[in-house]
Amino acid sequence: MTILLSLKDLTLYYRTRRGVVKAVDGVSFDIKEGSCLSLVGESGCGKSSMAYAIMRLLPRNTHTYRGVLLFDGRNLMDLSESDLRREFWLKRMAMVFQGAMNSLNPVLTIGEQLSEAFTIHAGLDKLEAQKRAAELLELVRLPRSLLNKYPHELSGGMKQRVVIAIALSLRPQLLILDEPTSALDVITQANIINLLKKLQEELNLTYIFITHDLSLSSELSDYIAVMYAGKVVELGDIRSILTDPKHPYTQKLLAATPRLLEDAKLEFIPGSPPDLASPPPGCRFHPRCPYVMDVCKNKVPNPVKVSSNHYVSCLLWERA
Ligand SMILES: Nc1ncnc2c1ncn2[C@@H]1O[C@H](COP(=O)(O)OP(=O)(O)OP(=O)(O)O)[C@@H](O)[C@H]1O
Ligand SMILES: [Mg+2]
Repeated sequence: MTILLSLKDLTLYYRTRRGVVKAVDGVSFDIKEGSCLSLVGESGCGKSSMAYAIMRLLPRNTHTYRGVLLFDGRNLMDLSESDLRREFWLKRMAMVFQGAMNSLNPVLTIGEQLSEAFTIHAGLDKLEAQKRAAELLELVRLPRSLLNKYPHELSGGMKQRVVIAIALSLRPQLLILDEPTSALDVITQANIINLLKKLQEELNLTYIFITHDLSLSSELSDYIAVMYAGKVVELGDIRSILTDPKHPYTQKLLAATPRLLEDAKLEFIPGSPPDLASPPPGCRFHPRCPYVMDVCKNKVPNPVKVSSNHYVSCLLWERA
């Protein structure tokens, strides 16, 4: 498989009244074409910020933005905003934003909202755009009759399918899904995950799937990147991460995930994630780590390869 997206030292800091928030801090990894990489971690660890950094959709209060973002061999960092708009956004990479299903425009019909990408970005006329909008509904397994409906007439699951359809309108290669099922019941969640699996096959999509739910990510992903306080602390193929986690944080996160068939006691991680305006020195997890050593308080761990598809950033492994 070829590498579709390669991040090197991707960094995004925000300027705030409390100081500089280091939301994404030197993240590097590759994503293979046609695969799904899940980004998991606690609330506030920088998952959405990572998505914005990859899309190059930056808020006004961006303080630092740097790194290399190779998309199919081209460094997105070197492109102007108009290049990105013309060649990449929606056309090669798209994003379903966190909570997007609640930000559908209440005064426009579903048909009008689905047509927008075609009229605004692809320059099609209204009639052709409406035809494409109907095809999009079919793509996400919704009836054409929804074209004339308004968002409030749809269920949560239907609205989520509509925002996925909008993101897919110009057939991107890469789709970033930021918590696409968080606000839905478990049955609807499962239906959306099944739809995403089918779409991935039909359209040869590459996914970055953002979630705080490890068990949900296992349904769709080939690889999991575990984020803690702005950094990826462990990355590996799904089996390695779920059955043989190496980072103490991943181990704790798994132990805190409920399992139906095992009688294991549910654990929790003592303490809380750090304030990213003043993260702890050394390993950012050290104040909560059960295996903390003196060196962890000063030295930032580097990724160590523990097996062919498995990397961990932990000084226990760096030493070993
Ligand atoms: N525009 C912004 N300006 C300042 N700080 C921000 C901004 N956006 C996010 N943050 C901060 O950056 C950190 C990472 O936030 P982010 O939304 O990326 O986390 P997340 O992992 O997506 O969280 P969640 O699971 O709750 O969606 C948090 O401390 C957050 O408060
Ligand atoms: Mg988020």
